[in-house]
Order: sequence, then structure tokens, then C-alpha cells
Amino acid sequence: MLLNVHAVLTPDEVRAARDVLAAAPWGDGRATAGTQSAQAKNNEQLPEDCEATRTVQQLLLRGLERHQLFFSAALPKQISPPLFNRYGGSANSFGNHVDSAVRYLRNGAGRVRTDISCTLFLSDPAEYDGGELMVEDTFGEHRVKLAAGDLVLYPGTSVHRVEPVTRGHRVASYFWIQSMVRSDEQRRLLFDMDNHLRHLRSNYGETDPGVIGLTSTYHNLLRMWLDV
Ligand code: NI
Repeated sequence: MLLNVHAVLTPDEVRAARDVLAAAPWGDGRATAGTQSAQAKNNEQLPEDCEATRTVQQLLLRGLERHQLFFSAALPKQISPPLFNRYGGSANSFGNHVDSAVRYLRNGAGRVRTDISCTLFLSDPAEYDGGELMVEDTFGEHRVKLAAGDLVLYPGTSVHRVEPVTRGHRVASYFWIQSMVRSDEQRRLLFDMDNHLRHLRSNYGETDPGVIGLTSTYHNLLRMWLDV
């Protein structure tokens, strides 16, 4: 499932993040690429352990925690610490690649299976030309360029790329999620059902017998498929 999640960060939080990132120590993105993706990768990124990274990570994780739609769609078991990249000038693109299946966390802090890939846009689309995230799936190719503060999540299995930025800079955060529900198909069903349930609750109230029954079915499906 490819899903746009609106307003993970407020405009004030985006501004605060951008201020920190503007003064941060950007470096060559190829430093952390695997051998295959190093051929395709041409951008800048922040070191994983600098102060700017830590500051904006906190901001972003708070935004994710309070976002109900994000939780319903991702059912996160573990979120890799968000990282930051910048495209522009001569370091302006990332060709077709697929993300590694496992993300090893720093200092032996564990591993995250990359069920879901996420990009959170921090630049306003008017600030730059190009820079679309292109995601391929069985329905074809999706072109994603979202408002600052919005996030896209898509299956970690997808081939994807970032188109060249031909004007301005595109600043974004990227991270991976290991979901409590490993299967994209099952996660999709649960997400749809949760959305329909929200709709039914607002129309018929929490105590409607059908609402209670379907809520029970949602949780029983979740229990059957869950890995906590
Ligand atoms: Ni990628």
C-alpha cells in the first residue's frame, strides 16, 4: 500500500526542523550506501549521530506518535531512527534501487526489518523543481511530491527513485518501519476496516451493536496476524 499521510508535522514544527537542518553538517550520501545503491545515489545526508539529527528526530517521532492515521496504516513495531537527506545542485538525484531488507541500528541497538519505507517532506513543493519520489508497484509508477510536513509510506519491497532536482533544494527525512503485521496485504485490510469503522462509529455511535461486533472482528483479525 502506498499512502500519503497529511500533516505529520505542523507548519511551526517544519520551520523549526528546517532551521536546525540549515545549519547542520551535510555530507556525501554515498558514505552509507551499499555497493549497488552507491552507483545510483547522488545526494547529501546528515551523519546519523550529530546533534541536528538527534534534535529533528525527536520532533519527528513526536509527530508520528500522535498521528492516528499513521498508526492505523503502519501498525509500527519498530521505527528506525529518522535520517535526513538533501537533493540539489550537483548532488541532486537517486536512481532506481530497492532498500535493504534489514536496517542495522547504530551501536548494536538492534535491527529493523524494512516492511515499510517512509519519506517525510520538509521542503515546500514550490521551493524546488523535480525531486519527485517515483515508486513502482504492480499498478504502475507513482509520482509523489507532497507538502512540507506530509509523509508517504510505501512497501519496502518497491523499486523507487528520486528524480533529479533541477531548481532549489529538496530536504526530507527517510526511515523504515518494521510492522506488527508483516504482510502488506493484511495490513491493508486492517487499515481499510479501521477507516470504515471510524465512519460507522461517527454515524451510529460507539454503542451500536454492529459497531461493537465489527470492532471485535477488527481486533480478532489483528490478534491473529499480530507479531508483538
Ligand atoms: Ni530508497
